[in-house]
Amino acid sequence: MLLTVHTLDDLRAATDRLGGSGTIALVPTMGALHDGHLTLVRAARAKADHVAVSIFVNPRQFGANEDLDAYPRQLARDAALLETEGVALLWAPAPDIVYPAGYATNISVAGVSEGLCGGDRPGHFDGVATVVCKLFNQVRPDMAFFGEKDWQQLAVIRRMARDLDLTRPHVDAIHGVAIVREADGLAMSSRNAYLTPDQRSAAAALPRSMKQAIARLMQGEPSNTVLEDLRGELTSAGFGSIDYAELRRGDDLSPADSAMAGSRLFVAARIGGTRLIDNMPLT
Ligand code: PAJ
Repeated sequence: MLLTVHTLDDLRAATDRLGGSGTIALVPTMGALHDGHLTLVRAARAKADHVAVSIFVNPRQFGANEDLDAYPRQLARDAALLETEGVALLWAPAPDIVYPAGYATNISVAGVSEGLCGGDRPGHFDGVATVVCKLFNQVRPDMAFFGEKDWQQLAVIRRMARDLDLTRPHVDAIHGVAIVREADGLAMSSRNAYLTPDQRSAAAALPRSMKQAIARLMQGEPSNTVLEDLRGELTSAGFGSIDYAELRRGDDLSPADSAMAGSRLFVAARIGGTRLIDNMPLT
């Protein structure tokens, strides 16, 4: 049976009870759940005795001109999905529970937060790090699960967990889960719901062009030409602007070239008003 809680006292009672009978895995989300989220839940169930999911549309990670108000909120539907997945606990706080009047603390992770999405969305990763740190302190899980769809976010959270001793020493408690894609290759995202049917079919050019770019890079073509062509293909497919198309090292996100082991291709591009991101390894 899924228990949904909205207050810190109810949450503490529930996590004390669950923690007394086994390990707890946390899956933080902003809701509007899709198969990507549910894959994280299933991975969590395979590793822990109890799964706790949080649903909180975190205002601090949205910029002034971003989609905070439009972001889909569908708690009853999400709770029903989580119930069928065998989730024990749903933590769904209101904004003033997470950020009460006078709230003044910010967490900023240097290095991995810089560039890529951190460059285009100033303050975004501070907002993510701050809320995820709070979620760890609130739920006190033994482990937590995040998607590789948001590769930079995963790197930020791994760094923060190590730096702030959020998890047990020497235990790899932050688990990354591979990107879940639609049949045409588009990475699942709650934001795909914003796309019109035409935009949705055009959006499949993102993973398709990335794969082609990777094939050319692996054959030794120079990255500046390949990335330039990638931008061109996305523009002709209907993307209005490309925020970035870059090669970085997967582990610390430092700049990379195609010859380096562990390099990944990272892209963020806009179609209509919707910003889509994706990343793939050079293998
Ligand atoms: P949200 O976008 O709801 O995503 C919640 C988790 O699901 C993240 O770890 C994300 O990487 C993962 N996820 C989303 N789409 C996925 C896909 N197609 N395949 C695999 N995993 C996927 O990311 C956030 O929320 C927030 O920033 C949060 C971490 C909850 C902090 O507010």
